[in-house]
Amino acid sequence: MYDPESRPAREGVRATTSTLPTGVGITALITAYARAQESRRRDALFVDPLAESFVVSAVGTAAGTGDALPRLGPARDDGSSALWTSLCAYLAGRTPFYDRYLVQALADGRRQVVMLGAGLDTRAFRLPLAAGTIVYEVDTPAVLDFKARVLAKHEPTSAAERVLVAIDLQEDWVGALRQAGFDSGRPTVWLVEGLLMYLTAPQADALMAAISAISAPGSVFAAEYLNRRSRMDDVPISDSGDRAVAELLTSSDQGGPGVEPEAWLSRHGWVARRRDLVEEMADLGRPVPVLFDTDRSDPLRSWLFTAALTAVGDVDEDAPTETRDSAP
Ligand SMILES: C[S@@+](CC[C@H](N)C(=O)[O-])C[C@H]1O[C@@H](n2cnc3c(N)ncnc32)[C@H](O)[C@@H]1O
Repeated sequence: MYDPESRPAREGVRATTSTLPTGVGITALITAYARAQESRRRDALFVDPLAESFVVSAVGTAAGTGDALPRLGPARDDGSSALWTSLCAYLAGRTPFYDRYLVQALADGRRQVVMLGAGLDTRAFRLPLAAGTIVYEVDTPAVLDFKARVLAKHEPTSAAERVLVAIDLQEDWVGALRQAGFDSGRPTVWLVEGLLMYLTAPQADALMAAISAISAPGSVFAAEYLNRRSRMDDVPISDSGDRAVAELLTSSDQGGPGVEPEAWLSRHGWVARRRDLVEEMADLGRPVPVLFDTDRSDPLRSWLFTAALTAVGDVDEDAPTETRDSAP
């Protein structure tokens, strides 16, 4: 599995203090930036006020000009980067998909949520979670420490109980989760946003096998990944900030599961339903980001999907194993 701390943040992506998450951890901040930027729009798809607090804590208000959000690597709210405009549209555009999933999964009576690679997700505060819900947020110590420090300044409230599980997913995260109180006898709502592309196919399989082994009947799962590895030429590069993040994202992109979600999840005993980001954006009334332009040859696609557990351990060995190249 990709080691989120093994790689120094690159010039142009590095934030200003040494106590910030680095490497892939910085992607949590970039995602928060997109949510902060979206939240400022008059036609915002959602409002996540804490997202801006993470950005400001990371880079300082002084780094901004006027009312603009301070710049963070490629992230800027002045429209001058095609890469950032695309990434921001993607990161903000996938948010309502996961919001709907979580709200529905809890409305159906589930009360245990696990976010793997939780990053700076604030759904525990932002969404109306029922009392009695427990949300386990799993990420590296660096990311969760930064998150806790910023949240401590704002003291947001949640009807849910949040439990932070600071561990690298390369380690015994299942043991840490159980130790934190996770109950494998209760149906779980798994939320794995923006993580799977950082894993190789065997790592993604190992992660899904571990998830399946501790998922009670009634558990549900949501995640997304790309149909192919991202490339430097997927989008125009404006400057060194763009180049740095494009290099970070493309070099961290390990390809994910490597087959379509329905086939991948079926092997692990789940029934998945996929939604292309392009469909999601159309329903949201937003243009398709350049990065996902379907008119290009070999277009990049983001597959968002939800899944329901059929039977734990009932692995379908005959499940189709088509490669991503056979994607529609
Ligand atoms: C793109 S961010 C997404 C964060 C969050 N899910 C969101 O959408 O706001 C990816 C997150 O996965 C975490 N991550 C990546 N590899 C990890 C690993 N091996 N162990 C724990 N966390 C990891 C990073 O630290 C980062 O917070």
